[in-house]
Amino acid sequence: MSGTTTAGETHYPTIEKPPMHDVAVKPNMMDYDEMAQTYAWEKTEQELRLPRANGYNKATICIDDHPPEVMQRPALVWEATDGKKEVYTFNDLKRETSKAAHMFKNMGLQKGDRVFVFLERIPELYIIVFGALKAQALVGPLFAAFGPEAIKDRIQDCEARFVITSPSLKHRVDSILAECPSVEKVIIVDRKDEYTDYQPNEVSYFEQTRNVPDTFDVPYTDKDDYSIIHYTSGTTGKPKGAVHRHYAVISQAATAKYVLDLHPESDIYWCTADPGWVTGTSYGMFGPWAWGTTSVVYEGPFKADVWYRVIQDHKVTVWYTAPTAIRMLMKAGDDIVKNYDLSSLRHLLSVGEPLNPEAVVWGQKVLGHVFHDTWWQTETGAMHICNYPCMPVKPGSMGRPHPGVTVGILDEQYNPLPAGEEGHLALKPTAPSFFRTYWKKEEMYQSKIKNGWYITGDRASMDTDGYYWFFGRSDDVINTAGHLVGPFEVESALIEHPAVAEAGVIGKPDPERLEIVKAFVSLKNGYTPSDALKEDIRKFVRNLLAAHAYPREIEFIDSLPKTRSGKIMRRLLKARDLGLPEGDTSTLED
Ligand code: WT7
Repeated sequence: MSGTTTAGETHYPTIEKPPMHDVAVKPNMMDYDEMAQTYAWEKTEQELRLPRANGYNKATICIDDHPPEVMQRPALVWEATDGKKEVYTFNDLKRETSKAAHMFKNMGLQKGDRVFVFLERIPELYIIVFGALKAQALVGPLFAAFGPEAIKDRIQDCEARFVITSPSLKHRVDSILAECPSVEKVIIVDRKDEYTDYQPNEVSYFEQTRNVPDTFDVPYTDKDDYSIIHYTSGTTGKPKGAVHRHYAVISQAATAKYVLDLHPESDIYWCTADPGWVTGTSYGMFGPWAWGTTSVVYEGPFKADVWYRVIQDHKVTVWYTAPTAIRMLMKAGDDIVKNYDLSSLRHLLSVGEPLNPEAVVWGQKVLGHVFHDTWWQTETGAMHICNYPCMPVKPGSMGRPHPGVTVGILDEQYNPLPAGEEGHLALKPTAPSFFRTYWKKEEMYQSKIKNGWYITGDRASMDTDGYYWFFGRSDDVINTAGHLVGPFEVESALIEHPAVAEAGVIGKPDPERLEIVKAFVSLKNGYTPSDALKEDIRKFVRNLLAAHAYPREIEFIDSLPKTRSGKIMRRLLKARDLGLPEGDTSTLED
């Protein structure tokens, strides 16, 4: 179980909200209880005028088909790491995404083909995802920090036909391409016009989109047609691809309206998540754009003063971020906040890991607004348990189920438990955004459904007011700074290092990142433990997987505790590491 700081109810007092009729921007949801009783997803479907003539294509809904006055509104306000700015209206995006769609069709893309987008957070990332959706691809955005192994696993699993990348990221794709025979073409987005050495399997994105029409007739797209795939880590095996359909936009739009509380005519919204993760697509693209909201994208990495400056310069009103970032802002100190005008902010939200009650309250004290926690997963495709502007906040609680969503706390036989008891956090798999399957692993999808409930892998409880409280994971999956890391993936990468005989990986509680990846490593004969070797192993895994997935801590041990059937007992490693009772060791090998 992860080392969460919010195990169950806390003694922080409930933060009441002012009467909703008095607040300057009236929330889209005025009364939670009333809406929870009356709401049905069809309401949002109707509001979005669905189905459109061509069905449910997300690109039609989010980009092409807004009323004329909305089409002229900035959709994407982009700031590069070097401070350069570009603005794209919905009309601009309509044209650019159409050109990208033509490029794919000209290359022979068929409906359902997998397209992987491995780019920095640049406008073309957004344009190409929607262009591929117009052409009816199943799109897999890849986090720019991924190493070759992480990229290869995903491309191979999905048999991707096209990969889009940039000159600076390309070498990581090149190194694994020989093992990925499905890839027909690598499309290179060369913003700086610096790449000249095109190989036979490579084409230039700007070249391919130069002489194509800037309108595109999006073919009929069914609600169940696949749209996006995001890989997520489990306890065993390689990451698995959670497949989402175009219909997911209903939940994404509903939650953008009622939880993000977007008012598209007046809000400037900033989602800090990268589209390589589900938050960056569901809420960096689909939810906000379904309503025509202006969205800020900052290309660069986290830095406290830069982030405050981005809020100030772009006059951000609604801000969706993550606990690790909030903790780092808290650490940067309250004084630097005074150097910026953050008065545009009106609604703050968080996702990805437990949000410490201290952070909720800090938001109120220093930024003038509490952080609203939201809970969901790659698999749920949209927020499922949330705090709302109209609802009192209990600091440390994830909030209450979104209207339309059914949540349960279940016992070990997967039967519902009463309020106050801790158990499996489970959901009815019914939201429009609920994932359809794990790519080529339908049996794993089925195995997560018990008694008609989807078992999330988290443990939680509900209090008598219907608020949910997170306890931790019920499996070995590590949550480091909001990124899930499967111990098995890291162990597999570790044993590829020439010195490593065996490896066991756990999540170790950490004040800033919630958990860090810690590896226990036994060495092959002939290798001696040293700090230099530790560093070498760390670097090795970092290059192979990604910066967030490498073990920040390595401990050499003579042999790993294993079950008689040879499974590494991570639970025992963790208990020993934390000095906790070892529990049942009856399956331990002699
Ligand atoms: C897991 C899902 C979809 C958002 C990005 C993460 C943990 C997520 C919270 C929260 C406590 C949370 C859970 C969950 N998690 N939000 N508000 N409080 N834990 O998506 O990578 O699929 O991770 O993140 O353990 O199961 P993901």
